[in-house]
Amino acid sequence: MSQKISLTRYLVEQQRMEGHIPSQLRLLLEVVARACKSISQAVNKGALGGENSIMGTAGSENVQGEVQKKLDIIANEVLIEANEWGGHLAAMASEEMDSIYVVPNRYPQGEYLLLFDPLDGSSNIDINVSIGTIFSVLKMPEDDRGVDEGDFLQAGNKQVAAGYCIYGPQTTLVLTVGDGVAMFTLDREQGSFVLIEENVTIPEDTQEFAINMSNMRHWDEPVKRYIDECLAGKDGPRGKDFNMRWVAAMVADVHRILCRGGIFMYPWDKREPEKAGKLRLMYEANPMSWLIEQAGGMATNGKQRILDIQPGKLHERVSVILGSKNEVERVTSYHAKL
Ligand code: F6P
Ligand code: MN
Repeated sequence: MSQKISLTRYLVEQQRMEGHIPSQLRLLLEVVARACKSISQAVNKGALGGENSIMGTAGSENVQGEVQKKLDIIANEVLIEANEWGGHLAAMASEEMDSIYVVPNRYPQGEYLLLFDPLDGSSNIDINVSIGTIFSVLKMPEDDRGVDEGDFLQAGNKQVAAGYCIYGPQTTLVLTVGDGVAMFTLDREQGSFVLIEENVTIPEDTQEFAINMSNMRHWDEPVKRYIDECLAGKDGPRGKDFNMRWVAAMVADVHRILCRGGIFMYPWDKREPEKAGKLRLMYEANPMSWLIEQAGGMATNGKQRILDIQPGKLHERVSVILGSKNEVERVTSYHAKL
């Protein structure tokens, strides 16, 4: 019988490798995984949670003006409470909080910064469809005295760890520390995440795209052209038929792409032209782009590699095109011809 490798063992082995993750980062990732386990439990209970049921809205809005679901808030609290006391973090930032959360003085401060989208795809909660937690880890800038929001404004290529946990038919944690992508599924009997795949690789070509087609009339020319060509199928310029998938939770669409390839797009569109896109650079696009690149895929905003974008503010949005390399290259080249 082949031996199961737990997340703990995987991380310890990563730590042992010369120059790889330091022990503080290993501990931090263990704590994030523990928090995800507890969010997974809440998700699993659904309406059976009684007074603590996670279903429904919380009656508030987040900083981006989106209605907050109860589970958005619960997941945010679980992540903060789990991570604030361990001594490895200086501060946290979340899609659900207006400003950064500095680790209180009563706890020791560490050298890492944790960013997260506590519950991605929250419109799926009430209908029993996949949702997830996305996270990204940065290091405090050297010689910094006192943490502030500016310390978070680092390009995605500075991340030291990134990942997500998807709460679907299985709860699966997907992680990179810059040495490929590994997947771990939660074994509920054992209570631990078990390695199911190492060196995840995305095929370079695909016949599957993910985009919210209802926005078609608002898209820019390059995106329209790419999708029109896919829709033309065998008889069109691509000479092959394409299939479409849209779960409406980035975490689930990206997970599918890591498992079997595809292209995901949430591009800038004319509905709100002053916004760069819908998705958040720091909590969604950066961690997902690093995972995709680590698996051999590509991620751009149409013009630039997402990981090279210098953020101007914490809640910055971005246009996202990511997935199988040859398809992302194609869409990006259509942007260059504008
Ligand atoms: O976090 C934003 C998000 O929920 C993503 O997870 C998802 O990809 C997208 O929005 C869905 O957008 P729409 O409502 O346009 O389908
Ligand atoms: Mn989200």
